[in-house]
Amino acid sequence: MGATPHAPALPARLLPPAPLTALAPMQDVTDLAFMGVIAHYGPPDYFFTEFLRVHAQSRPEPHILRSIDENATGRPVFAQLIGEDVHHLRRTAEALLRHPVAGIDLNLGCPAPKVYRKNVGGGLLREPERVGEILAALRASVPGLFTVKMRIGFEDDRHLDRLLDLVNEHRVDLLSVHGRTVRQMYRGEVRYDLIARAVSRVRCPVLANGNVTSAAKAAAVVRETSAAGVMIGRHAIRNPWIFRHCRERFAGREPAPVRLGDVREYVERLYHATGFPGLAEHHHVNKMKKYLNFVGQSVDPAGAFLHDMRRAATEQDLFNVCDRHLLAEPGREFAAEPFPGVVARPNCEDAATEPAACSLDTVTA
Ligand SMILES: Cc1cc2nc3c(=O)[nH]c(=O)nc-3n(C[C@H](O)[C@H](O)[C@H](O)COP(=O)(O)O)c2cc1C
Repeated sequence: MGATPHAPALPARLLPPAPLTALAPMQDVTDLAFMGVIAHYGPPDYFFTEFLRVHAQSRPEPHILRSIDENATGRPVFAQLIGEDVHHLRRTAEALLRHPVAGIDLNLGCPAPKVYRKNVGGGLLREPERVGEILAALRASVPGLFTVKMRIGFEDDRHLDRLLDLVNEHRVDLLSVHGRTVRQMYRGEVRYDLIARAVSRVRCPVLANGNVTSAAKAAAVVRETSAAGVMIGRHAIRNPWIFRHCRERFAGREPAPVRLGDVREYVERLYHATGFPGLAEHHHVNKMKKYLNFVGQSVDPAGAFLHDMRRAATEQDLFNVCDRHLLAEPGREFAAEPFPGVVARPNCEDAATEPAACSLDTVTA
């Protein structure tokens, strides 16, 4: 490929002295409202948008553009693309570069069958040559930061080393690695050993991703993988204080525990942030339940909050449940780790129906 001048690594202003933190891109979650809520409790070093779909007719989705253009968090936002058509990926990257993006990120991980069968997202991990063409094209169109988010492979790690070499060849600036295969979806063992392999093989910083549940786990994952930092998804929905806690832990301080009263305040903030004129109450309540599915994993070990929350039909019901479970003993600790066996639903990995993409309708913790 042609030599496009670009920064060989993240410029110093984007590299804090401590390990990096990033909020993982999550479709239908990491929008402007959610990024604002997360920033309130202690922003990560980087945000990533949910993926922008790229194909012949695609135009950047307006609501995703808002998370870039109107972002008031003060933190850099990478715009993530999913697609396989080189021409349209370049066209979209060039359009996005007219917005205040920190850089362009390529999705090489989405595990939804409807996505990977189109040979985009995680589907591309089966074809390293095709990945090479796409990386070359995007590298040539992105003079600034070009980043990649990938899994360790499709069925297994057979192409991992080849894919990592392509990351070097095309001078990717930052690599996020979710340490699972596409086949694993969101469950099962996270291969931190393979993330460590990526760290030792690529020249750019690597963010370790997958089941980083707490600041203590983040510190352990950074130790184990030598990654430049961590990318956190579902556990930031459960615990939006997690990035602040990570920073404290990385600085050698023990984070102060979160109390159930603080969680009640988070629920209210999230409710107000995610509402908009015209959103029917039952849709808003259902949307909240998807976030609270994760929050409930740290409220009580028996899952009583989750049980009651799932039965709420109105805003009033929902807040009554929150008051009952979160304000009865507001000083009680919200568990830093999810309680074992308290699972967020639905259980897409076991479901007969295929998820359309990655969404809170289908992904569990
Ligand atoms: C609801 C949901 C939506 C997701 N959407 C995206 C996405 O748009 N792009 C992407 O690269 N990964 C997406 N992911 C994957 C996450 O970025 C992350 O890799 C995965 O959840 C593992 O990290 P975690 O254990 O910290 O959640 C999504 C995950 C979830 C739970």
